Amino acid sequence: MIRTKILGIGGYVPDRVVDNDELAYLNARHERQPARQIDTDDAWIRPRTGIETRRYVPNDGSVATSDLAVAAAKRALADARIEDAHEIDCIILGTLSPDMHFPGTAVIVQRKLGIASGNCACFDLRQQCSAFVYGLQLADAFVRAGTYRRILLIGAELHSHSLDFSMRGRDVTVLFGDGAGAVVLGPNETDDRASGIVHTDVHADGSGAMDLYLKIFDIKKLPYFDGTELYAQMDGKRVFRAAIAGMVASSRAALAAARMSWSDIDWFVPHQANLRLTETVVELAQVPPDKVLSSIDRFGNTSAASVPLTLDYWRREGKIARGHRIMSTVFGSGFTWGTAIFTV
Ligand code: UT7
Repeated sequence: MIRTKILGIGGYVPDRVVDNDELAYLNARHERQPARQIDTDDAWIRPRTGIETRRYVPNDGSVATSDLAVAAAKRALADARIEDAHEIDCIILGTLSPDMHFPGTAVIVQRKLGIASGNCACFDLRQQCSAFVYGLQLADAFVRAGTYRRILLIGAELHSHSLDFSMRGRDVTVLFGDGAGAVVLGPNETDDRASGIVHTDVHADGSGAMDLYLKIFDIKKLPYFDGTELYAQMDGKRVFRAAIAGMVASSRAALAAARMSWSDIDWFVPHQANLRLTETVVELAQVPPDKVLSSIDRFGNTSAASVPLTLDYWRREGKIARGHRIMSTVFGSGFTWGTAIFTV
């Protein structure tokens, strides 16, 4: 039987580290000012979110989301021992911070990887923080159907340019960071149902659409862009509650569908939105706490990138090893959520 195998993993974050205290002094160009620009600090941010630092791209206009995606993709290709990127016949890219409105960012990544030959399909996913698990489900279906043989699944976000460095936006601004993560997937002939992508389930509830959104423009209006909707709007408490309910239900359902228990899972790698949120999910879903891996303390919330970036980080730190079985549960704007069980 053909099953989908993860052949390589890669992650990338830009060099600039912004800690919680420095963040309060940054202006909209990310330059440190003598006086505080936002009334916030480590004493507020760390206990409520678990975030200590996040990464920002340079503020000189030299780096786009596609560049972060390409950097992570190259590392995933090297990890999969793929020397010629032309082997990739499909790119699936999740982002809520695309290079531009259209075309999608996957085709820009394809061009920057030097494989814009017409033989590599490109998909952009708009499932925000849930895009990685949505992408795994799509990639798994494509691989098992024989549609594509080498899929590059990427989550990449450049959040720092669309954050509001004023008092108005402080609830959102403190949460997000820049980064990218990628995996390469392909077919594997095996009878082992517990290997490769074991299970995915994804969900959506559009009644939560306006609890976390970023408009930029409103296509029903003339003119459709007036420059007043540049930053994300969030009802943090509603998102928090919905995320806990969705993630607990989905992780339980995934275990039941895969006929597994927590003893079959080596690591729980949830979406990195907020450490308090993860801790509540872990308690309610009865995840063994020593199986939980986080990276929110160092990278903040990197939306679509958060799961593959966390996988890459802990693999390089020596915790995640080849053959380990992972459960990833995600939740994001939409609302969208889901769980994947897979071996790496
Ligand atoms: O990937 C999904 C993305 N989103 C999320 O996961 C967000 C989920 N929600 C959360 O993580 C939390 O709701 C937050 C961390 C965003 C906020 O925590 P909270 O405990 O729900 O705080 P709050 O919104 O109830 O705000 C408490 C107070 C308010 O002041 P008042 O009205 O009590 O005087 C806020 O104005 O904290 C104030 N506040 C801040 N103070 C300092 C809000 N943001 C900040 C800030 N620094 N950055």
